[in-house]
Amino acid sequence: MTQMDHIALDEQARAILRGNDRGGYTVPTAGLYPYQWNWDSAFAAWGFAQFDVGRAWQEVETLFSGQWPNGMVPHILFHKPDPGYFPGPDVWGTQGKGPILSSGISQPPVAATFVRAIWEKDRAAGEPRARALFPRLRDWHRWFMDWRAEDGAICITHPWEAGRDNAPDWDGAMAAIDPVGVGEYTRRDTSHVDPAMRPTKYDYDRYIWLVQLGKRLGWDEAALKEHNPFRVADPTMTFILLRANRDLAAMGRALGEDVSEIEEWTAALEAGAAALWNEDLASYDAKDVRAGRFAGCVSSASFLCWYGGVDDDRMLAQVERVWGAVRYPVPSHDPESPEFNAKRYWRGPTWCIINALIGIGMADAGHAAQADQLRTGTAALVARHGFAEYFDPTDGSPAGGGTFTWTAAVWLGWASPSAGRA
Ligand code: DGY
Repeated sequence: MTQMDHIALDEQARAILRGNDRGGYTVPTAGLYPYQWNWDSAFAAWGFAQFDVGRAWQEVETLFSGQWPNGMVPHILFHKPDPGYFPGPDVWGTQGKGPILSSGISQPPVAATFVRAIWEKDRAAGEPRARALFPRLRDWHRWFMDWRAEDGAICITHPWEAGRDNAPDWDGAMAAIDPVGVGEYTRRDTSHVDPAMRPTKYDYDRYIWLVQLGKRLGWDEAALKEHNPFRVADPTMTFILLRANRDLAAMGRALGEDVSEIEEWTAALEAGAAALWNEDLASYDAKDVRAGRFAGCVSSASFLCWYGGVDDDRMLAQVERVWGAVRYPVPSHDPESPEFNAKRYWRGPTWCIINALIGIGMADAGHAAQADQLRTGTAALVARHGFAEYFDPTDGSPAGGGTFTWTAAVWLGWASPSAGRA
């Protein structure tokens, strides 16, 4: 890539963030995702931090303005009605639970790590904003420890909570759901994007059935913990919360806060991460808590161990095998497994956000050559194929939504040769 190329791409990425800005929050992409999504928004903040630090803070503050009194930060905030998306606020039925109409589940807590990175851009100017966000982040992390931890591993209660909606990791737990009474509904996602790149009707029936269950139980966490058949310990959540906790503790120390509770969570999460090691697979894996069974999946989330601060050489052998099987790593699912599908959302495609988290973790752990290979490979993918939502790992062809916020943010924060690496 010439210098001219990457400067033009930097400009395009900034224009995508500006174009998806709806005034204080950023949509992932127009049409397909018309609201504020939790982890998309945290990535957007990281992207903005590379050229407009004030706007970066505002993105996270808007996200936390939707925090529920129990500490949960929802995965979608429905700031303004939009008939182009399903399921909207009426289906979720969360009215009265939080300050803004929202979904009833959360999403991977990357926010604390990006808040720390934003703060690093200007410590003195950012301190009041970091100080205001610190207790809110801590309340959110406590909510995960209270309601999602099983022996220290963090569970999801809906495939949408992991952000990896249709990953084969959930197939076993999804098969145990009989979506009886789900009724008729009209999907909107497949009118924006080729249905072959989206989850199937089989998946959607179960997604909606789980939302209806949450609504019926008034989004009461204790009731859901008892009655929800879907509870899967997830490497995405576990490694990401582990990392976020370490960054939150570092922020807390710098602010003169007591971080002993956060340090206890970190120790619990380290034990939880170790319990996700599947010896038969020689990999970190998801585990269905209800059935007591590993999923048997090497996914891109398995490679988040380094990001979580778990330096595990056993995963380097998996990296070589999985990356070597495709042209553009990291495939979201093992390309040598029968479930692999190069186009269908989280069953194979490469996602730049996961690449960035894996690459940051590898660099931190001292695996510089692999980290650099991943970063330059991701840069080549975007330079050749654009700022798509995700990509076919076999040939790089773009998939899902276009002009995508988090792909632009990852470009600015990490993949671009001019990225600050913050
Ligand atoms: C969707 O609508 O596809 C989202 O992933 C749900 O969060």
